[in-house]
Amino acid sequence: MAQLWKGRFKKELAKETNDFNASIHFDSRMYEEDIKGSIAHATMLGATGIIDKSESDKIVEGLSEILDDIKKGTLEIDYDAEDIHTFVEGELTKRLGQTGKRLHTARSRNDQVALDIRMVLKKEIDEICGKVKGLIEVLCDKAEENKDTIMPGYTHLQRAQPITFAHHLMAYCSMLCRDLDRLGDVKKRMNVLPLGSGALAGTTYPIDRNKVADLLGFDSVCLNSLDGVSDRDFCIEFADALSIIMVHLSRFSEEIIMWCSWEFKFVELDDAFSTGSSIMPQKKNPDIAELVRGKSGRVFGDLITLLTVMKGIPLAYNKDMQEDKEAIFDAVDTVKMCLNAFTPMIETMTVLKDNMRNAAAKGFINATDCADYLVGKGLPFRDAYKATGELVAICIDKGVTLETLDIEDYKAVCGAFDEDVYKAINLEKCVNDRVAIGGPSKTSVDEQIKAAREYVNG
Ligand code: ARG
Repeated sequence: MAQLWKGRFKKELAKETNDFNASIHFDSRMYEEDIKGSIAHATMLGATGIIDKSESDKIVEGLSEILDDIKKGTLEIDYDAEDIHTFVEGELTKRLGQTGKRLHTARSRNDQVALDIRMVLKKEIDEICGKVKGLIEVLCDKAEENKDTIMPGYTHLQRAQPITFAHHLMAYCSMLCRDLDRLGDVKKRMNVLPLGSGALAGTTYPIDRNKVADLLGFDSVCLNSLDGVSDRDFCIEFADALSIIMVHLSRFSEEIIMWCSWEFKFVELDDAFSTGSSIMPQKKNPDIAELVRGKSGRVFGDLITLLTVMKGIPLAYNKDMQEDKEAIFDAVDTVKMCLNAFTPMIETMTVLKDNMRNAAAKGFINATDCADYLVGKGLPFRDAYKATGELVAICIDKGVTLETLDIEDYKAVCGAFDEDVYKAINLEKCVNDRVAIGGPSKTSVDEQIKAAREYVNG
């Protein structure tokens, strides 16, 4: 297929140039947005009298037919075309002759491609938000079932204080709600129409940019044509938001992987969402979680690609910017793929509550509560802390826990101890007394679940 820019060239393009320059193998996925953008542009050209209304009508009809035909499969995209813009315009001209050639009036591929990417990515943001919301819902459901499931909370991967599995899951919901927030923010700044910027310096035609913005659902139009064609901040911001999602999924994956090990055995993944080993018959591996953890690297790489592509290019459009698409599409596709597998993996996993409870019983995770008990009896916290530390040392020597240590041992360390200490260090009580906003108690977790569900559905 011929290039759009033949006029001044005397020689045919070298095959190497064409192969290197072409972007159709990755920008063809924008065909729908390219055509819809062109339909809006042609409509505006007709409405403003820049081209005859009858010709704009024909262009709109021709473009709609091309869109239908691609969707039906009766028109195949020609991968010899330089890019999707060339293909669509070429096909239109094939069908309409001279009229087709009027479509590109008052437009450049520079503002056209800037428009197309924004339109495609707006749709992708919506899709990814839907998937993130799906995961939040699954986590809220799992949290509902595990408000009584006591487990150790960790710092430094050392057992620290008692929490519930519900509380732990809701931490991820908080992260994912922030992810939704960020995606919404990215979309807001993406929702600005670049079309009308022309190649770089606008156009002398009396275009109506606000009309095109209305037709395509953009909130506003960009206010500087140089910026309009050379801004890819929205790709960088999107890749950044996607990278943070991957950080969250990767941390969660790491925990799933640990929890699946015999050393923890806090959860058991469904057979349908785990894999085996070709040599070790006993193995059941958390491959999905490992792949999600691994694929985070790709998405971070895409962000770095975009930052690096953009950092040194002078205004306005430069061909370097064609590199934006593979990076951001890869980030989008990777995150979607990860969420598609991760969410049902979480939904179907079995929570091994007894193992969590047993782990919580060891490790002295109620030591802080034991110290708080002494504070309740009038001791300064520092003294209470020291006395409890001594008790822990005794427990370790005797191979017992604070719950099973004799009251005489308690009293020997500090006279303020009494039989009611056992009630005070009961794990269920320790958890459910933490009623302040954000804590692990049932009432607090209920609030967290309610807030997350409202955020997702509101
Ligand atoms: N394929 C190009 C891109 O993705 C389209 C814009 C071409 N513009 C140009 N001046 N060569 O950026």
